Amino acid sequence: MKRITYILLPILVFVFTRCKVDPEIKPELPADNIRQVVPQGWPQPVYQFQNNPLTADGFVLGRTLFYEKMLSRDNTISCGSCHQQFAAFAHLDHSLSHGIDGLFGTRNSPPLFNLNWHPSFMWDGGVNHIEVQPLAPITNPVEMDDNMTNVVSKLSNSSKYKSLFKNAFGTEEVNTERIFKSLAQFMGMLYSYKSKYDLHVNGAQGGEFSAQQTSGYNLFKAKCSQCHTEPLLTDFSFRNNGLSINPILNDSGRAHITSDPSDRYKFKVPTLRNILQTAPYMHDGRFTTLKQVLDHYHTGVQTSATLDPFLLGGIVLTEQEKLDIISFLGTLSDYSFLYDERFKDPN
Ligand code: HEC
Ligand code: HEC
Repeated sequence: MKRITYILLPILVFVFTRCKVDPEIKPELPADNIRQVVPQGWPQPVYQFQNNPLTADGFVLGRTLFYEKMLSRDNTISCGSCHQQFAAFAHLDHSLSHGIDGLFGTRNSPPLFNLNWHPSFMWDGGVNHIEVQPLAPITNPVEMDDNMTNVVSKLSNSSKYKSLFKNAFGTEEVNTERIFKSLAQFMGMLYSYKSKYDLHVNGAQGGEFSAQQTSGYNLFKAKCSQCHTEPLLTDFSFRNNGLSINPILNDSGRAHITSDPSDRYKFKVPTLRNILQTAPYMHDGRFTTLKQVLDHYHTGVQTSATLDPFLLGGIVLTEQEKLDIISFLGTLSDYSFLYDERFKDPN
């Protein structure tokens, strides 16, 4: 008996310590209800996780990677540094993105949600697939400034990632494709469709608009929805909305990708969902308030060869109408999304 104990005890201690939760892994955040969503009345998404079956383990790996600073050269910046949940995954208070070594980029971090409907990514549509999108920030010298060989090797040396990759893909192997696929699972799960506006449109309880919100909604449908089209609040087209050209950045927008002069200064129409949370506004973050945005549409629109014809002469609005539209825009905040525990930083 004694002999057996002598033999068994060390084995038990060994087994017990091996099974103990890796101290690097913090108490689990929820990963329930991981499935594709197509809200009522919405078009079919472009990305439907084709060849990338959505699973809770794939989502958990993607979430961990999204907040992983090892994805940057000096291990200081994660995707979550510039895409913060409480700001609908935009970067609060930053007009231009702020990355590695304190360097600034030339564009404002867009919010991240409902990405499965995007036919293209970035302000100029320069990336056309959600599964290759992360390569851009990881390798951008002013964002994360790393390369995939290095990132794969760093993650391969981590016991935490060995088990996360095994859970998600069946083996411990870390490779670029798996990194991108799991990030696409996390980003693709960032659905936002439960704002007061959505309740209103669906005639559901809690969706009652005030008189001011109703007035704002009617104005919005008449003057804004040509481009900020319902239900996603963007038609994903590239347009010039008459911003003055910033001589330092001189960002030509869509033309940067197509080299077509008729695309100069056109940018992807951004969604206005969660717009209260994503200041500052426009591709270069030049406006800090929605009042400034509406003042722009009213009196600031610059005529140019590529200005959208709908905006010739600007959008005529009274001060009261501006306030009504802003009040309506407030109904586009989706607090269940902004505070969803599943999307939090697990570290
Ligand atoms: C230094 C700040 C920064 C970091 C870090 C960063 N991003 Fe971004 N992200 C941006 C900016 C700025 C843009 C817009 C770039 C453009 O339009 O050229 C962007 C655009 C995007 C888009 C396109 C959204 C759209 O509406 O078209 C996605 C998706 C995205 N980032 C995901 C990620 C992921 C995943 C990571 C981590 C691998 C990451 N980002 C890291 C700043 C950052
Ligand atoms: C002709 C198309 C068009 C119309 C009409 C239009 N917009 Fe825009 N809107 C755009 C484009 C394009 C951008 C992005 C421009 C950029 O950053 O270069 C934009 C940007 C915005 C932004 C900033 C969003 C962000 O995330 O930075 C807000 C807010 C906005 N518009 C609100 C409105 C409102 C309110 C109206 C109606 C009064 C309106 N827009 C009418 C095309 C349009």
